[in-house]
Amino acid sequence: MGSYEIYEPVALACVLPDLFPRVALYTKADGRYVLYKEESLQFTEFDRDRLLNSKTSTLYVRAGDFEEVSNFAEENLTEILKQCDEDQPAKCAALTQTTTTYLKNIFADPEKAQDAERCKKLTGHLAHYISESRSITDLIQTLGSTSPFAIKHSMQVAVMSMLVWSKLFPEKTEELVDIGVAGLLHDIGMSLILQDVLEEKDYWTTPSLEEIRRHPFEGYVFLRKNGYYNELVLDAVRHHHERYFGGGYPGGLKGDEIKLTTQIVGLTDMYCTLTAERPARKASTQDEAFKIIGDETHKCFSTILYYAFQAAIKQ
Ligand SMILES: [Fe+2]
Ligand SMILES: [Fe+2]
Repeated sequence: MGSYEIYEPVALACVLPDLFPRVALYTKADGRYVLYKEESLQFTEFDRDRLLNSKTSTLYVRAGDFEEVSNFAEENLTEILKQCDEDQPAKCAALTQTTTTYLKNIFADPEKAQDAERCKKLTGHLAHYISESRSITDLIQTLGSTSPFAIKHSMQVAVMSMLVWSKLFPEKTEELVDIGVAGLLHDIGMSLILQDVLEEKDYWTTPSLEEIRRHPFEGYVFLRKNGYYNELVLDAVRHHHERYFGGGYPGGLKGDEIKLTTQIVGLTDMYCTLTAERPARKASTQDEAFKIIGDETHKCFSTILYYAFQAAIKQ
């Protein structure tokens, strides 16, 4: 084993016994990677039980095997989640693994976002998880500190927007997945503006504010071109920085000119940005974020939506 080898983490939940691709699997002990299973050997039920008993929840594969492993996890996500049964942390790990890989793919290569079905399928799984558990705290926690800002932020906005929508309008389930899709893709325009969006610790420091402010419109034009996203998604991507009492961008829209679904994504976006650790700013606590948004509400958001949002998140 060369010390220069790069390894990628794989949630144990995704390593389905007897089906998982034959790749070498590693565990990590004291910062070192230790071969657990050679690639010629099949990962079995017995292996999984043994790892679960020793409280191992993450395995590692060589970077060169990661694409095959990621494709497997995404294609088999239904079965993977089924096998997690009541094990919520394992479900969160599997969902985070697959969504993170998806977001890495599209932020590194926005053309991949053309595959709207892939995006909808993943979001459908996230929506199902939210409807089952009615909480996203554990899901947000598994995102960890190692994911790039763009990934954590996009996934947070997606799951939180879906949570808020499902609590405010439990009967309106047909919009739910599209709201999640809008959350995942709302900042896709950043990847068209920033040199390497996955290296950025914060969107708002480089290059210039004017450049950055082009991201909603650029993202919208880009997604509209491929023609696979509906109006709800396109509108949220385009107008998530509009403000209820005007002064937002790119359109300077006001009040009900901004779709309610877009207002929810916009409000969630601000909340998630405030509560994230960023280079220039410490993360706000939930209460601090509510206070800051509350102070801005007479300019930025409908008062009714602000209180409904607060109630939905605090429940
Ligand atoms: Fe944005
Ligand atoms: Fe954002």
